[in-house]
Amino acid sequence: MKTVGYAIVGVGYFGAELGRIMKEEEGASIVAVLDPENAGPIARELGCDVETDLDTLYSRSDVDAVIVATPNYLHKEPVIKAAKHGVHVFCEKPVALSYQDCDEMVKVCQDHGVIFMAGHVMNFFNGIHHAKQLINDGVIGDVLYCHSARNGWEEQQTSISWKKIRAKSGGHLYHHIHELDCVQFLMGGMPATVTMTGGNVAHQGAGFGDEDDMLFVNLEFPGRRYAVLEWGSAFRWPEHYVLIQGTRGAIRIDMCNCGGTLRVGDKEEHFLIHESQEEDDDRTRIYHSTEMDGAIMYGHPGKKPPMWLHSIMRKEMGYLNNMLHGAEADDEFRPLLTGEAARAAIATADACTKSRFEGRKVKLSEIVGEVPV
Ligand SMILES: NC(=O)c1ccc[n+]([C@@H]2O[C@H](COP(=O)([O-])OP(=O)(O)OC[C@H]3O[C@@H](n4cnc5c(N)ncnc54)[C@H](O)[C@@H]3O)[C@@H](O)[C@H]2O)c1
Repeated sequence: MKTVGYAIVGVGYFGAELGRIMKEEEGASIVAVLDPENAGPIARELGCDVETDLDTLYSRSDVDAVIVATPNYLHKEPVIKAAKHGVHVFCEKPVALSYQDCDEMVKVCQDHGVIFMAGHVMNFFNGIHHAKQLINDGVIGDVLYCHSARNGWEEQQTSISWKKIRAKSGGHLYHHIHELDCVQFLMGGMPATVTMTGGNVAHQGAGFGDEDDMLFVNLEFPGRRYAVLEWGSAFRWPEHYVLIQGTRGAIRIDMCNCGGTLRVGDKEEHFLIHESQEEDDDRTRIYHSTEMDGAIMYGHPGKKPPMWLHSIMRKEMGYLNNMLHGAEADDEFRPLLTGEAARAAIATADACTKSRFEGRKVKLSEIVGEVPV
């Protein structure tokens, strides 16, 4: 088996762990990292080089692919430069903070024939895959409505992470794009129109960022189908779930009391969200402990991801490494590998942002320039 050489740009909380995981994959080696603050110790740990310039990094003959895990507002340059050097790309979510930037990134990767995989981890949840299978098999009939919530309460912070600054993270809507991507995956495409309300209602001043702490999104899909999504850190009753309502039955994917439920008539069937009961139970334990930070559990350099996330990251890196060894993508994952699923989610997020600031319902066509079907 040939060895694929990976570079990592941004080795904080997530990039460093993706590196540790990828290093264990068969036929994968981490050859260099680039990070203005944390490169040295992580390079020593991974046994690789430090580079300080993107063009030099991507010109190396042993770099076949890059894992981009910089803060959200700093994804574009390392992605575009990688593509121009013919280097395949895995980029953390949200891949961009605007449809325009994302569209440019998708097109450059297409033009240069490189993979542009987005780090949308929910796609790798067993529970989501199972729910999609149930929908495809017609078990709950036609999907009429999805409801997702990712809520909790955030206390004052001793230092303000970039993750709490709207210009750097995009706020909950972009930083937690997972649920939006997931709902579009389950509904089979983009909505036709969106409305978003919300604001910063309880987290102003010292010790807080400037993002909105309550967001309510209303999506209208073609064919009289709907979704409501909410996010925020101003909710004293934490919740994290995706509920799917069909004409024959319903599915609840609960990340808080971690587990999946299929309900058809008066019968209920339960299924795992993650790889084992132990992982689901561990996630439940975390949500009910003091480890949470606004139902969100933000990471920072030096912190380790929880058991369920680590295992999803292993699946994700395994999938990427297989693709780079020439495996054929299945239909479900193809839009994830071209940046198209990421672009569709960001288009909706942009429409939501426009709605919130202009105080009106917004058509997706105002963002993407055509009526989505
Ligand atoms: N998929 C998930 O569940 C998940 C979870 C956590 C983070 N993430 C994503 O991973 C990315 C990184 O988040 P994190 O939690 O590791 O943040 P972090 O702050 O812990 O790490 C970011 C790292 O990027 C470095 N950096 C800053 N500017 C850089 C630049 N110009 N070039 C190279 N490196 C630079 C920083 O020094 C830091 O080491 C974000 O996009 C985030 O949304 C995804």
